[in-house]
Amino acid sequence: MKCPRLFTQLAILLVILSSPVANAQLTDAQIDQRVTKLLQQMTVEEKTGQMMQYFQFSPDTTDAEARAAKGDAGSFLFITDPKTINRVQHAAVDKSRLHIPLIFGFDVIHGWRTIFPVPLAMAASWNPKLIEQAQTAAASEARASGINWTFAPMVDIARDARWGRIVEGAGEDPYLGSAIARAQVRGFQGDHIGAPNHLLATVKHFAAYGAADGGRDYDATYVPDTLLWNVYFPPYKAAVDAGAGSVMSAYQDLNDVPATGNRWLLHDVLRSTWNFKGFIVSDASAVYSLTIHGFARDPNDAAIKAFNAGVNMEMAFPNMNVPANSIFGNKEAFNMPAQQTYTKELPALVKAGRISTADLDAMVRPVLNAKMNLGLFENPYIDESKSEAAATDPAHRQLARSTAQQTFVLLRNEGKLLPLSKSLKSIAVIGQLGDSQKDIMGSWVFVAKEEETISVLQGIKNKLPGAQITYVRGAQVRRPFPSPVEMPQPPVPEQTEADLQQQMTDAVDAAKRSDVSILVLGELQNESGEAASRSSLDLPGAQQKMLEAVVAVGKPVVLVLLNGRPLNISWAASHVPAILEAWYPGSEGGNAIADTLFGDSTPAGKLPITWPRSAGQSPLYYAHNLTQAPETAPDFKSRYWDDSSLPLFPFGFGLSYTNFAFSNLKLSAPTMKADGKIDVSIDVQNTGDRAGDEIVQLYIHQQAGSASRPVRQLKGFERITLAAGEKKTVTFPLTRAELQYWSPQSKQWVVEPEKFDVWVGEDSTAKTHAEFAITK
Ligand code: NOJ
Repeated sequence: MKCPRLFTQLAILLVILSSPVANAQLTDAQIDQRVTKLLQQMTVEEKTGQMMQYFQFSPDTTDAEARAAKGDAGSFLFITDPKTINRVQHAAVDKSRLHIPLIFGFDVIHGWRTIFPVPLAMAASWNPKLIEQAQTAAASEARASGINWTFAPMVDIARDARWGRIVEGAGEDPYLGSAIARAQVRGFQGDHIGAPNHLLATVKHFAAYGAADGGRDYDATYVPDTLLWNVYFPPYKAAVDAGAGSVMSAYQDLNDVPATGNRWLLHDVLRSTWNFKGFIVSDASAVYSLTIHGFARDPNDAAIKAFNAGVNMEMAFPNMNVPANSIFGNKEAFNMPAQQTYTKELPALVKAGRISTADLDAMVRPVLNAKMNLGLFENPYIDESKSEAAATDPAHRQLARSTAQQTFVLLRNEGKLLPLSKSLKSIAVIGQLGDSQKDIMGSWVFVAKEEETISVLQGIKNKLPGAQITYVRGAQVRRPFPSPVEMPQPPVPEQTEADLQQQMTDAVDAAKRSDVSILVLGELQNESGEAASRSSLDLPGAQQKMLEAVVAVGKPVVLVLLNGRPLNISWAASHVPAILEAWYPGSEGGNAIADTLFGDSTPAGKLPITWPRSAGQSPLYYAHNLTQAPETAPDFKSRYWDDSSLPLFPFGFGLSYTNFAFSNLKLSAPTMKADGKIDVSIDVQNTGDRAGDEIVQLYIHQQAGSASRPVRQLKGFERITLAAGEKKTVTFPLTRAELQYWSPQSKQWVVEPEKFDVWVGEDSTAKTHAEFAITK
């Protein structure tokens, strides 16, 4: 018998009113009870509707509202206008039969309106507390505009600089990556899901998306179990343990089984082993893509395979007409046939008995749980009048500036060229990126306004209003074809040989006329990020040529890099006296760079990635196993005959304007039991004449065991601030958590009674060494 509409509405109202005060935290049991009642009233179509998330690029939301009113969608992503969000939410809450609110998602990756440094840069701060603060600010801006859910943090370990998305993660190391994953989850979500001014976080892309063959985006990954458990999985696990409410299944094939159809991954590992209680969303149209992989026969087979693997919500492109000026609107890339499978295929599968109602309910439940936890049933709307003020909070700009300062890595500083004197009379700022308000923000920026961003040139002008600053655009940088994941760009024509000559002449002339040249080189916003992998790590275009020409002038040169991956700067590393890696530092980037170049801030960031000499060395990472012929052997210099096999800069590397000395490495005991603890302490002194931060790093190496172990593994770090001359003792505990590993022989986590080396110091080549043993 069908319930009359009034009766249903009353029933829902009762469920809602039986809740305590709006937004108060309900217990898990109370939420489960409410969801059970709701599920009892839902049709199969309403249930599958909740499992569907649609992209919405167009400001015309007629179709979206119709879907919401019909209960045919559980979520939309990419609606960013607060009014529109409220309008579409009204369609769901007022017009749908059961009044279930929508959850609005967006890629709040490193900011909303205020843009913080890109994630790889934030990782270079080695400051989880700061990263948490930045993501808290980003969450509050987005939440005030109606976004409930971010598709971040991306915690994919990346060891191949050719992969464009290396910029979106925390680099190559599982220990650092885990600490940063936890910090981001806390920042986005607050101390519980539904905390005011926060978002639901998504850990992505599960799993091992960063191991793409050849560094080519979306390519297959072949990752043995030992690497999955020891290297790739830990940051996802850390984020899940920190309470992340959702997980995104990756696009790619993992060991021949696409992640989105991989039950071992999504069910056995994530749900059973890690006890994940939230919901799993697919990456964009990744369910439909199971047909493209050659894994699913057709969309019907894709839907059932993803459902059985454990994907609770399908993110999909509906049949869209993308207006040219819309957000994320590369018309060609997105005008494609509808790709949703869940709402199209699952209802018939349930009706035919191929999916049981109990299984369907179990898959919808976590989605409804999340909506209740977020308080959306009580407070589905936002106060539009507050959105703009929240998004433009001046405190966030200040935080963006200090965050950026902490992310810069000083790669070279011969003759202490930096910091530059503020009494310089004339400065040349050279490079297309130097005057760009767009590129300096990095990828995944759609809401922020270019005109509100501080370019490097502007930052330098702000710092030295009295100096003569000559700007030369110089060598052209262009991506030859647009990225599918950027705002539409007018095509940039390639330049002629004569143009190039003129650019070189202009750059050289400006350098000759100035006391110092600041070259701002690197990659455009769309040359790094999703769908932005490269086969070369060279500076794009004629930037290298221009750099060499300017250095040849013989006057002081500072190279500022804006980029999302290590680039081939081997020539610069021995010819350019000062090199500052500034990544993509965001809205306040130009000011933060000027603060650092002119000594108002002392750089202290450290590389979260090993820096290769060229693309030919990729993948390159510090925590490799010892080969039978290591570079350190006296008769064996390199594993290549045409280049060194050592990196240009090691993992954890970064200079300062001051110096630090490490001494007095002490272990609290020479041995420990597997469940015991050893404290490793070291004294760190600032031996220079200005205050600065040092990032103290601890590495271990297990000397023998049931498997070969990496030469070094990071197992502790702390960023400390020291005044000139100041000395501090830093202590790191070593326990089972740091010493265990997943053994490919016993296929379990082990702590083995072996000897261990320990080093503490300034980077992954730290020399201060001690030894201890684990005893039975
Ligand atoms: C595809 C990307 O892989 C993913 O990271 C992102 O969250 C979704 N698109 C939504 O934009």
